[in-house]
Amino acid sequence: MKKVYFLYMGLLCLIFTGCRYSNVKQDNNIEQKVSHLINQMTLDEKIGQMCQSNGFGGIPDELKTALRNGEIGSILNEVDVERLNEIQKIAVEESRLGIPLLIGRDVVHGFKTIFPIPIGLAATWNPETVQQGAQIAAQEAWSSGVNWTFAPMIDISRDARWGRIAESFGEDPYLTSVMGVHMVKGFQGDDLTREGSIIACAKHFAAYGAAEGGRDYNSTLVPLRELRDVYFPPFKAAVDAGARSFMSGFNDIDGVPATGSKFLFRQVLRNEWQFDGFVVSDWASTYEMLAHGYAADKKEAALRAINAGINMEMFATTYKENIKTLLDEGLLSEKTINQAVREILRVKYELGLFDNPYVPEEKQYQFAKKEYLDAAQKAAVESMVLLKNKNKTLPIDKKVKSIALIGPMANQMYEQLGTWIFDGDSTLTVTPLAALNEYLGESKVKYASGLAISRTKTNEGFAKAIEKAKRADVVVFCGGEESILSGEAHSRADISLPGAQEELIKELHKTGKPLVLVVMAGRPLTIGEISDYADAVLYAWHPGTMGGKALVDVLFGDENPSGKLPVTFPKQVGQIPIYYNHKNTGRPANPASWTHIDDIPVKASQTSLGNESHYIDAGFKPLYPFGYGLSYTRFAYDKLTLDKASYAIGDTIKITVELANVGEHNGTEVAQLYVRDLVGNVTRPVKELKGFKRVNLQAGESQKVKFELAVANLSFYNEDMESVVEAGDFNLWVGGDSNAQLMATFKVE
Ligand code: BGC
Repeated sequence: MKKVYFLYMGLLCLIFTGCRYSNVKQDNNIEQKVSHLINQMTLDEKIGQMCQSNGFGGIPDELKTALRNGEIGSILNEVDVERLNEIQKIAVEESRLGIPLLIGRDVVHGFKTIFPIPIGLAATWNPETVQQGAQIAAQEAWSSGVNWTFAPMIDISRDARWGRIAESFGEDPYLTSVMGVHMVKGFQGDDLTREGSIIACAKHFAAYGAAEGGRDYNSTLVPLRELRDVYFPPFKAAVDAGARSFMSGFNDIDGVPATGSKFLFRQVLRNEWQFDGFVVSDWASTYEMLAHGYAADKKEAALRAINAGINMEMFATTYKENIKTLLDEGLLSEKTINQAVREILRVKYELGLFDNPYVPEEKQYQFAKKEYLDAAQKAAVESMVLLKNKNKTLPIDKKVKSIALIGPMANQMYEQLGTWIFDGDSTLTVTPLAALNEYLGESKVKYASGLAISRTKTNEGFAKAIEKAKRADVVVFCGGEESILSGEAHSRADISLPGAQEELIKELHKTGKPLVLVVMAGRPLTIGEISDYADAVLYAWHPGTMGGKALVDVLFGDENPSGKLPVTFPKQVGQIPIYYNHKNTGRPANPASWTHIDDIPVKASQTSLGNESHYIDAGFKPLYPFGYGLSYTRFAYDKLTLDKASYAIGDTIKITVELANVGEHNGTEVAQLYVRDLVGNVTRPVKELKGFKRVNLQAGESQKVKFELAVANLSFYNEDMESVVEAGDFNLWVGGDSNAQLMATFKVE
């Protein structure tokens, strides 16, 4: 019998340092104020706090009346600061109890100054960058009157067809947790009452990213253990980091819409994790329970959502219309309503809204300061992932005489910003063309888009583009997807480069000039085959406002790429879902016995090819593994050592590895730590990321890199759904991606 250690909240909390128990920290002063206020509230006023209205684009009489009557607790999608101050003023000065409003907005990867999309931010593997970006976004949003953002989105996504993978931090629970925590910290700061702090919203609880077939809003079928081991950890980490609001998902999980799930919101979020902030539904996801076939009418939808623990209803009006009746009929209790209202008011007090509901005039519109743009540029540099660099095509020699810049994303001020940029100012955008012109001088840059937009199918523009390519020393093709092709409701079944981009790349290849392919996209694209026509491939995601400048920094080697993939890149869409932390299966793929479809002898006997888990056409490997990314220099890992051979439950494993920069450029490597639990009470993934470090090394320099891993962080949910660490043997790797080979072993006893 194996020894099993059962983990409780206290021990699990070790995973993220600086975590707090939100319930323990409750401020008595605030609690008293909330109680005092609730005691004075009428039922209508309580219901009002539970309702979030969409902005009116003005202040019509209808809104004024509703505010005076205390019928609205929050507004979303209103960003005009003068108007918002006026609206707050009516709520604060003209309503009976003067309760200020929460002003919500999707501030996802920047407000005016746009940072790379979240999947690009995840590719930085730099939590500080993410935190700084969120802080800047919060500052800009706050100065426009917004005090609550619907971010971070910390849905695990293993499916690049899903358009919202752009908004995610990718496929890994650990990386997503770290990035989510830093985004929360960036938005909220360490003091919510401080100017420039806005509340974060961990969304979409839960498993929304597991939409079947990558079709947005679709059903999710995630077993409980996978929910707990893979989909929940980022949300737990967000609670521990102090995120003050949560949003429910649109999806149903095994038949229960998230918005109606008592299990998610009552049992897990509130009882197990002790969350004491509030939950908002997603946009009308309460009402959509009718379409799900989970509620017969709006009244039942409201009942199910409130009972599940959804404090506030976004946009829809099932609460407003039905709470009274539900109380009259005895289906809901006033205690439940009071609790729901308490959790909203608590956060309003924490934000300091009762004392400072307005944005002072001199603080308004603090947009796109130089330091913000610089930070966005640095983030974009760090987000770019070098996937291929044959014959050191990159960096381009600064003395190059001429460059042909081709492609539908080379000069699109709007398209490089990506999804969810409601307030983004595309006039600030620096495109690759603008940046290159500035860097080299216009006379050296030969530009032709070749294709008007990423989806253009005609080859009318080819001749001009090819002509420019022929007369240049190097060709840079900037392609990918326009913003609208990823994001909410923008799932794709074919995730190759859209339009005639591949044809154009093939034509450019024929010129014989060194060809650099730059991809700006909201998801991993299946670029395997087309990459063969390029000498270098740089994945830039949607890089945001300063994308062009960042690109030029990287292309000419002023910055050395250090981004690493936060998600596995499939060769073909048919391989999806494909992710690195899969199970081994009873018949793992075996390179020795795998035969490609074209090499199978005619009438080969049924069992002659090896019966393993693979595709006979696509094999079993991805195009690029999770964690992958090249640099202009090379890194070597050696001498992986652990401080002991075996550990007990309370121990911390101390790991050291020697990392050397063995190339000719200074550079930054993201050293990644992976673990495998060899035998478990339930099957365990072949590898799991447990830590990472960004290490700067001069050419020729080497450094001892140290990791610390608490044994408690090896926990998983066993057959009885208990969180445990089991005694036994483990493998541990450190390396530059999830294929890391340098391995050590240890035991937990
Ligand atoms: C999205 C949310 C978003 C909300 C408000 C919904 O459609 O799913 O992520 O926060 O709209 O804009």
